Amino acid sequence: METELIVLEDFKRTGILSDADRSGLMRAAGLLKNGGLVAFPTETVYGLGGDALRKEASQRIYAAKGRPSDNPLIVHISDISQIYPLIDKMPEAAAKLAESFWPGPLTMVFRKSGLVPYETTGGLDTVAVRFPVHPAARALIGYSGTAVAAPSANLSGRPSTTSAEHCIEDLTGRVDAIVDGGSCAIGLESTILDVSGDRPVLLRPGAVTVEMIKEVLGEGIDEDAAVRGPLEEGVRPRAPGMKYRHYAPKAPMVLVAEKHGGSVAGAIAELIGQHRQEGMRCAVLCSDECIRELEQMRPSLPEGTVIKSSGSRSDRDMMAHVLFERLREMDAEEVDFIAAEGCSEDQLGKAVMNRMQKAAAWQVLYV
Ligand code: TXA
Ligand code: MG
Repeated sequence: METELIVLEDFKRTGILSDADRSGLMRAAGLLKNGGLVAFPTETVYGLGGDALRKEASQRIYAAKGRPSDNPLIVHISDISQIYPLIDKMPEAAAKLAESFWPGPLTMVFRKSGLVPYETTGGLDTVAVRFPVHPAARALIGYSGTAVAAPSANLSGRPSTTSAEHCIEDLTGRVDAIVDGGSCAIGLESTILDVSGDRPVLLRPGAVTVEMIKEVLGEGIDEDAAVRGPLEEGVRPRAPGMKYRHYAPKAPMVLVAEKHGGSVAGAIAELIGQHRQEGMRCAVLCSDECIRELEQMRPSLPEGTVIKSSGSRSDRDMMAHVLFERLREMDAEEVDFIAAEGCSEDQLGKAVMNRMQKAAAWQVLYV
């Protein structure tokens, strides 16, 4: 299949969609209307879109990603009125959250209506709905005249894509078009909250934080076990996607996080030393502060160690923004082992650590 690259030149420069950008998006919307697949930018990560109301389009999405078809897709809308035909009812808590956080990086899971095919929901009676704030995503969905099913636009098992270059790497020849809108502001996938039961349950942490949700609802929310740690044998997560190995670089990774006043740089240096002795090509992903400490250490890190920055230790937004890109760079460097610095788990740190823990297959060293 030929994959057309549609570059939003003016939007990338100015952050505003020009007429030329809009005509590119209309062409992409035409492909969606015809049952085609289009990768497009959102504020979280790139999505791999197809018409959510056509089962053949959803089947094509699974095939393009190489993704198991029991893993449901998120349905994207560009106007709040678009949600009502898709869901059974709008619970009160969901209405409050929509009021506060939509459009934005929050996905909510509702009981579905008959309009949404089971191919889109992976056979579930619920549907995940997201109303993105990214202007190109909203324009594309609006022009398509339908709701757009879109998982993250990566090949199954690879880190989510946060730029058109990543999409080109994973999806060339697999989709009809890739819309290049530059890099995604947030860089981590949306928060997922299941509002289909009596109490809201967090299925995936994201940029709409637990603290922000609590403030709106005036009470705490439950958390699915899959958010906290590896699932025990036989336990089914409520977000089926959480059971798959996700966000994973090719090399094994160990996460080092400060909890008991120990030295993160010291622990990273020790891990790298051990693995280097076994002949492995090693890499470090850590804060600028940690890099400075590592540079001053004697003996210094073994020659050839790949060092990548996740930004300043205090800048969680930057950590989130670059994480998946750095993991892809690690793959390109063909390293054998990665030691990475984590962060504390409040606010956005919860989502960052969730993705990092998964990338590390929950191998965390607290120092
Ligand atoms: O930020 C995002 O949410 C991005 C952009 C493109 O919008 N999309 C995204 O989709 O991350 P994906 O498919 O990579 O992750 C969707 C997650 C999966 O873990 C899936 O199992 C869960 O949402 N999910 C979807 N529908 C669900 C449902 N009805 N019930 C429970 N979990 C659901
Ligand atoms: Mg994904």
